[in-house]
Amino acid sequence: MSDSLSQQRRGFFITFEGPDGSGKTTQIRRTVEWLRSRDIEPVLLRQPGGTPLGEKIRAILLDSRAQDPVSPLTELALMFADRAQSIHEIIQPALREGRVILCDRYTDSSEAYQGAGRGLGSDRVLAVHRAICDDLQPDLTILLLPDAEKALERAHRRNQRNIQQTGTDENRFEAEGEAFYRRIHAAYAGIAAREPQRVALIGPGTGDDGIDAIAARIREIITGRLEQHLHSV
Ligand code: TYD
Repeated sequence: MSDSLSQQRRGFFITFEGPDGSGKTTQIRRTVEWLRSRDIEPVLLRQPGGTPLGEKIRAILLDSRAQDPVSPLTELALMFADRAQSIHEIIQPALREGRVILCDRYTDSSEAYQGAGRGLGSDRVLAVHRAICDDLQPDLTILLLPDAEKALERAHRRNQRNIQQTGTDENRFEAEGEAFYRRIHAAYAGIAAREPQRVALIGPGTGDDGIDAIAARIREIITGRLEQHLHSV
C-alpha cells in the first residue's frame, strides 16, 4: 500500500466521528499503529485544536468553569475558526503532499453538536462550512455510533474519572443533559443516512462488537477506500 500511496498526487483525508463515549480515541490509536506498521505515517490532528491557535480556542471552548458562558453561535463560530486554521495550516498542505490525514472530529461534529445539540440547525452549519471551509469534505468518515445508552454511560464514567484524577472538568459538553446527547446521536445517524458514500457507519446492528472487531472493520474499510482512491488518480 505504501509504495502506491507515495505515487499519488493528492492525499487522503479521513475523519473520525461519534458522540462522546463512542471509543473514538482508542480506534484512532489503533488505526495509527496499523498504518505505521504498513509504513504510512499519517498526519494526525484533532478538532478543536491541532494548531497553536486551535489549542487556544479549544481551551476557551472546553473550560467548563468559564465565567462567561459561550453562546451557541459563538461556539459555532469558534469551532469553524479553529477548523479554518487547521485546513490552512495542516490539512491542505498535507493533501498537497499526498499524505494520509486522520482527523479526530470535523464538520459532522458541528452539525451534530451545534446544529442538533444546540438547535442551530444543519442548514446553518453547512452554510458556514461552505463559506469558511470552502466546502472541503473528507474522503472518508469513520462514524462510531454505539448504542445511545452505552455511550451515555461511558461518557459519564470518563468525566467522573477526570474530575477525580485532575480535580478539573475539562469537558463541559459532558455536563449537558441526556436530551442533548440523544439529539447528537440522532443527527449522526441522519448524516450517515444522507451520505452513505462518504460515511462508514460502525454501530450496533452492523455486526461489530468489541474493540478488536471494530478495529479490524476500520482497517478493512480504509484499505478498500485507499485502493479505490489510488485507482482514481
Ligand atoms: P474532546 O475532549 O476532544 O472529546 P472527544 O474525545 O469525545 O472527541 O472534546 C471535544 C468536544 O467538542 C466534544 O464534546 C465535541 C465538541 N465539538 C463540538 O461541539 N463541535 C465541533 O465542531 C467539534 C469539532 C467538537
